[in-house]
Formats: sequence, C-alpha cells, structure tokens
Amino acid sequence: MLMQKIKHLVLGITGGIAAYKAAELTRLLVRNGITVQIVMTDAACHFITPATMQALSGRTVHTKMWDASIPNGMPHIELSREADAILVAPASADFLAKLVHGNADDLLSTLCLARNCPLLVAPAMNKQMWESPATKRNVAQLLKDGVMIMGPDSGEQACGEFGLGRMLEPEILFNDLLSNLNAELPTRPLAGKQILITAGPTIEKIDPVRAITNLSSGKMGYSIAEAAIDMGAEVTLVSGPTFLTAPPSAKFVSVETASEMLNAVMENITNKDIFISVAAVADYRPASQSVEKIKKNKSSLNIELIPNVDILGEVAALSNAPFCVGFAAESENLLAYAEEKRQSKNIPLIVANIANEALGANESTLTLLDDNGTYPLPKSSKSKSARTLLTHIANML
Ligand code: CTP
Repeated sequence: MLMQKIKHLVLGITGGIAAYKAAELTRLLVRNGITVQIVMTDAACHFITPATMQALSGRTVHTKMWDASIPNGMPHIELSREADAILVAPASADFLAKLVHGNADDLLSTLCLARNCPLLVAPAMNKQMWESPATKRNVAQLLKDGVMIMGPDSGEQACGEFGLGRMLEPEILFNDLLSNLNAELPTRPLAGKQILITAGPTIEKIDPVRAITNLSSGKMGYSIAEAAIDMGAEVTLVSGPTFLTAPPSAKFVSVETASEMLNAVMENITNKDIFISVAAVADYRPASQSVEKIKKNKSSLNIELIPNVDILGEVAALSNAPFCVGFAAESENLLAYAEEKRQSKNIPLIVANIANEALGANESTLTLLDDNGTYPLPKSSKSKSARTLLTHIANML
C-alpha cells in the first residue's frame, strides 16, 4: 500500500487523568510538522485547560458545539474537513460507548459521527471498566466499524491499582498513529537549514531617559521565526525590544542598539544557510550619548546623528555569505525603491511592503522581488505571509 503523508490531525481529548499525556503528544505531532486541531469535551477541561492545549497546538481549541466564530456555523463538519484522521486520546469508557451508539450530543462525538476520515482511539480507564462486559462489547463493535483501537497499556493506574487500562505513552501513540495509517511525516521544506533572523526595532539612546527608535512591533520577524521552525529549520532570532515571546525552540539573542544587533549577527552568522533581515534597524545614532539627562534650557536642540552600519549589506558582502533576504518598508515608489535596495545590497531576494500599513499590524501585503520577477502576495495574516515567503525561499534554494 502506498504511504501517505499525514499533515493535519484532529486530536479529541475526553475526560480522564491521562489527558495530561495529550499535551506531550501534541508537542510531538507539532514538532514533526503535523497541524493539530484540538477538540475537548467538557470533562476533559477539568483535567487539562484549553489554554495549555492552545499554546501547544498554536490553534484555537474548540470545546463547544455552537461556535459562532466558525464561518458556516457547523464546526462538526468544518473542523474535520481538512483532517487526515481523528485521534481521540484519551478516550474514556463513556466516549467509546457514545461512538458505538452514534451519539452526537457534544462537539467531539458529533465530529466523529460526521467524519469522512479514519478514526483512532486510545482508551484510558480503570482496569475494571476496561474489563467490564459493556466495554468489551463496545470495543468489539468499534473494531467492526473500522475504528482503530490503540492500547491500552498495563501498569499502575491513577487509582493505585495495577492492570490494563492506562493510555499508551505519547511516543508510542505517535509511532502507532503513523503505522496504523500507513502514513509518513510531511516533508519539511526547510529541514536541516540554519536560519538567522533579525526582528523588531533598535533603540539608540540620546541620554539616560531618551532614545531614537521606530514603530516596528517585531510581529513579522517573530512570525517568520515560528513558521521556519514549523518547516523544519533551526532558528536563531536576534531581536530588538518587543512585547512578543520568542518561539521556545529558537536560539534567542536580545539586543537594543543597531551596533549590538550587528555584533550579535556577526557572532551567530557562521554556518547559517539563510539570513532574513526583518529588523527595522535605525540608520543613524546620536554621535554622543549624554551621561546626564539633557535639560530644556535652550530654545532649540540639535542632536548630531552618525550612520549605523548596514547589517544586511555587511552579511551579504561576506565571502561565504548565506542566502540573504531583505525587507523594504517604503511609503511610496514601493517596487522601484525595493528593487534598488536589492541591487545595492547585492541580495537575491527582497520583500517589499508599505511601511505605514505594515508597522504593528497583524496582517501584511507583501511583494517578493527576485531575479526572475515580482510576486505580489495577497493580504493575509503575518504568519500566513511568513509561510509563503519561506516556501518561496525554499524553492529558490
Ligand atoms: N538594514 C540593516 N541594517 C541597517 C539598515 C537596514 O540590516 N542599518 C536592513 C533591514 O533589516 C532591511 C533592509 O536593510 O532588511 C532595508 O531596510 P530599510 O530600512 O527599508 O532601508 P535602508 O537600507 O535603511 O534605506 P532607507 O532607510 O533609505 O529606506
């Protein structure tokens, strides 16, 4: 049988102490490039919070049947539409019984009934419940219905007893999932690539309390870092001050000034395959920094500014330069200015956007410019634009 790629999984969580193992399972799936849509029953929310699962899966967790935020108002159909499979882990004795009878009285059971993809369940319950004639009948019926049953395992149970009924460990579930579905992991276009990304603004101090900075939020750079990790890359993120949280698996270097950013980039550039310069680096800094707070005892104040090094230009000029990508934020003549920057910095790819629309926003409208032409991308969330940009880079490489 031909192996198929598993890209998108609905992970259903029902009420049981083993729900905590669903957190580790989600991490494993996401780390391996699988998109995980979590659906939890009310009982599951007593054991692990939707907020935890949302943070781990990076997607909104669904718990309710009547969710007005889903465009056609039919989450039971919408959520499993793009799924390659539904896995319920842990699956309680009660949930197995529901599946047997085709009950559809909550979102997860309705989703299972309305699916058009394989269903796998990982039972977790006390050993007496597992051995009861009712559960045995239910499991036999589910197998007849084509549902794949994974486990349970035997060992010490939450109630202190020993026997069959523990949910399989996340690593075992993960491997069993792939072999039961005869599936392989999605190809990750940036697997093995090392990427250095700069993000956010820089700050150039004038005196102990004042500074020159800009309105960059860092959202684009952080979105690129997250998407690059999802696509298999190892990421170093050098960032000016932002209110954002760096992806946990990135190497994170925090800087303030353009010179600190230059040093951090140069210290980390060796062996990098790709450099993406998203940071809004200050072009100038005060020629000198006053040690004391400047007093307002003059009718006007002149601050002499001197130029900062162009970090992207420096990296692109290295003899063993990585594949360099620049950003051009312009207020006018977008494409002409962007192309001019691409040529003058001698880089293969530049990403153009309108500065006042992009700064601080959650969405962006990017245009990619390379030797082969100009590629306008549709307006979309920064994380979606990040993926499209990285796919373009992977194709160019
Ligand atoms: N850049 C950099 N170091 C600088 C200035 C800019 O690495 N000192 C990078 C930015 O990260 C971006 C690209 O160069 O990828 C273009 O930045 P931008 O501010 O749009 O252009 P500048 O080259 O600074 O030119 P100008 O300000 O005149 O538009």
